[in-house]
Amino acid sequence: MKETLEKIKSAALAELADKDADLEALRIKYLGKKGELTAVLRGMGQLPAEERPVIGQLANDVRAAIEEALNARLDEAKEAALRQKLQKETLDVTVPGDEAPVGHLHPLTRIQREMEDIFLGMGFSIAEGPEVEYDYYNFQALNIPPDHPARDTQDTFYITENILLRSQTSPVQVHVMESQQPPIKIISPGRVYRSDAVDATHSPLFHQMEGMVIDKGVTMSDLKGTLAMFARRMFGEETKIRFRPHHFPFTEPSAEVDVSCFLCGGKGCRFCKGEGWIEILGAGMVHPNVLRNCNIDPDVYSGYAFGMGIERIALLKYHIDDMRLLYENDTRFLGQF
Ligand code: PHE
Repeated sequence: MKETLEKIKSAALAELADKDADLEALRIKYLGKKGELTAVLRGMGQLPAEERPVIGQLANDVRAAIEEALNARLDEAKEAALRQKLQKETLDVTVPGDEAPVGHLHPLTRIQREMEDIFLGMGFSIAEGPEVEYDYYNFQALNIPPDHPARDTQDTFYITENILLRSQTSPVQVHVMESQQPPIKIISPGRVYRSDAVDATHSPLFHQMEGMVIDKGVTMSDLKGTLAMFARRMFGEETKIRFRPHHFPFTEPSAEVDVSCFLCGGKGCRFCKGEGWIEILGAGMVHPNVLRNCNIDPDVYSGYAFGMGIERIALLKYHIDDMRLLYENDTRFLGQF
């Protein structure tokens, strides 16, 4: 029996040493329930009592030796598999990466935020209003009754005879005055609509920023000072402003406001069409009728208002000559800003 055990051991170790050995088959063959070693142990009963411990001990040693050899081979195989896997999956961490394109704010948004920042810095707060308005807020409360000729220049899109897409941000003035007594100091940026055909300077949808201050003793010089400050912040410290008389139904007196050309400094160049000045906004003192419509006493309070197109400011500031470029979402164009 001793020889049988020794034979099993050397046969097993020899087979396990073969580099192509099927390790699982060998485990079953030698160590399994129906394996050779088990068969020997089963025969132990027939041995004389004094030989049993010796053979038992030997059988255990043989089992241990085979297990050890088998485990060593299994570890080796595992390691080899891992090595192979790592080799297959090598990553060259020095290869330059693919940069994911990162976007940025649209130039129009950037300009709007810049304008907002300038006015917030002067103590204005931002007020918003609906884009779908009643005729009353867009026109009548602003001193533009039905059939007033000023409606022609602000033809818009009607939802019903009485409900329309706002043609200006001025109706926000009315909402704010209705809901709040002076002092009022607001800007209201937002989308406006007009029934205009698309060309280099027109779009049926564009953006305006309205400003309004109402308090006791507000005068035209407050308006001038505020707009002069805005112009310097927006277009450079050297920028000057100029008021030209104009007419708006909701302000009296009214003015159109120009800034000195920030390219030629006012001497006249191609950018300002030789004028030295560039028109940027409309403004004036809030008409007493408008104050009265909003239950604010024009004998106690006065105020100014101004309104400008955000697109116009963006085109000027970025030297863009066609407004359509702002809306076409061509990233080759937008990426330049
Ligand atoms: N709402 C006017 C427009 O769209 C601009 C404006 C606003 C003029 C406030 C004066 C005062 O033309």
